[in-house]
Amino acid sequence: MTDRECELNPLLKENFAPWRMEGDADDLEVIGEIPADLNGTYYRNGPNPAFEPTGRYHWFDGDGMIHAIRIEDGRAFYRNRYVKSDGLAEERAAGKALFDGVLTLTATEAPRFKNTGNTNIVSYAGKLLALVENALPTELVPCTLETIGVYDFGRRLASPMTAHPKMDPETGEMLFFGYSPFPPYLQLHVADASGALTRSEPIDVAWPSMIHDFAITREHVVFILCPIVFSFEALAKGKGVFSWEPERGTRLGVMPRGGASADVRWFETDACYVFHPLNAYAAGDEVVLDVARYQQLLFMAPSAARDPDWRGKNVARLHRWRIDLRRGGVRSEPLDEGDGEFPRIDERRLGRKHRFGYMAATGPEGNEAGLPVWTAVRKYDLERGTIETRPFGSGNGASEPLFVTRHGDAEEDDGYVLVLVYDQSRNTSEFLILDARNINDEPLARIRLPHRVPYGFHGNWVAA
Ligand SMILES: [Fe+2]
Repeated sequence: MTDRECELNPLLKENFAPWRMEGDADDLEVIGEIPADLNGTYYRNGPNPAFEPTGRYHWFDGDGMIHAIRIEDGRAFYRNRYVKSDGLAEERAAGKALFDGVLTLTATEAPRFKNTGNTNIVSYAGKLLALVENALPTELVPCTLETIGVYDFGRRLASPMTAHPKMDPETGEMLFFGYSPFPPYLQLHVADASGALTRSEPIDVAWPSMIHDFAITREHVVFILCPIVFSFEALAKGKGVFSWEPERGTRLGVMPRGGASADVRWFETDACYVFHPLNAYAAGDEVVLDVARYQQLLFMAPSAARDPDWRGKNVARLHRWRIDLRRGGVRSEPLDEGDGEFPRIDERRLGRKHRFGYMAATGPEGNEAGLPVWTAVRKYDLERGTIETRPFGSGNGASEPLFVTRHGDAEEDDGYVLVLVYDQSRNTSEFLILDARNINDEPLARIRLPHRVPYGFHGNWVAA
């Protein structure tokens, strides 16, 4: 990629531009007061290309960088480190970018992909794992963030792992899946609380697809098969590796937790794309599945003349599906007209009935540029049917809002919403601790970070 092209790629500009320094900062400036009962570390992952991309760059392609904010007795500490993949080491030795991007691939001839580990960061069985869906996990040292290396469950996992495993709050199990353009297209895996991979089940699907996330209930695993199809035919024609084929519709696969491929029941609904469910739960004969639903997903925008409403369709809105296990069928209900992404619940409600949800959302000023920037946080009370919006101001993009409970026995929503917000006027970022019950009040604490944190993907809290 030439300098001119890099300059033009909006996903390498402003707060999408990589931050290439690694560092530590102690005793950060705090405005307000960090709650005494909040002790632990917030980890956030996101793409941060160490070298200027050689080809067309997509946001999903950059090297992972972990930003950690540790809170201890009212004080805050910051540290950031790259996920040091073998591919990144190779690039560092060469002094330039060497790998292909998955979404920007236009030729079938021997592409090379890097395990960027750039999407999510989770704590499981005492391990800190950086995840990206086209590769194995990468294990990091929780306190230093140094990279240990690829984690494959003692050589029991040989294929990619989703960036969105589900930790069952009661059993401590971790359920996850992996997808592939080659058979088996989909596999479900279960690991126990001690870290041992105990089950791997190939799951038959009607077509190979990009499956970013899934859902569980106490009794079920729920797969979301959208009409984004791996197509080597389209790739050979220079159209990219995924093809949007809405005539296929979307299929929701419900499987008993102990079941296998033959036990999956598939239910049809309208064509759409879902990166992220909010949560799912069983209610009588139904499985309720709340998702951030895109009406369509085209990675490359057609000309405005061909579809003037392209932007309106290619955003996600909170949506509820009720899957009727007894009579069949899916009831579909929009829950919000506004758009957003990165839905989260109180993780103690995972797979159980939730009342509250939180999402990064488009602020009142709208999103003229159409970039993946959300300048507000939206809180949903799904029992009362109310929505609250906390805006941060034009140009001040917010990260995925993360709910952290005040203590283990606290009620749902009794806790904090943690959110990283870019401050465009100061070209830096702040880490906000909001009172989850009063998200529009002054933040309980605003922690000023030593520099901006580029827009990224997912984060999680690990209590001390
Ligand atoms: Fe994701």
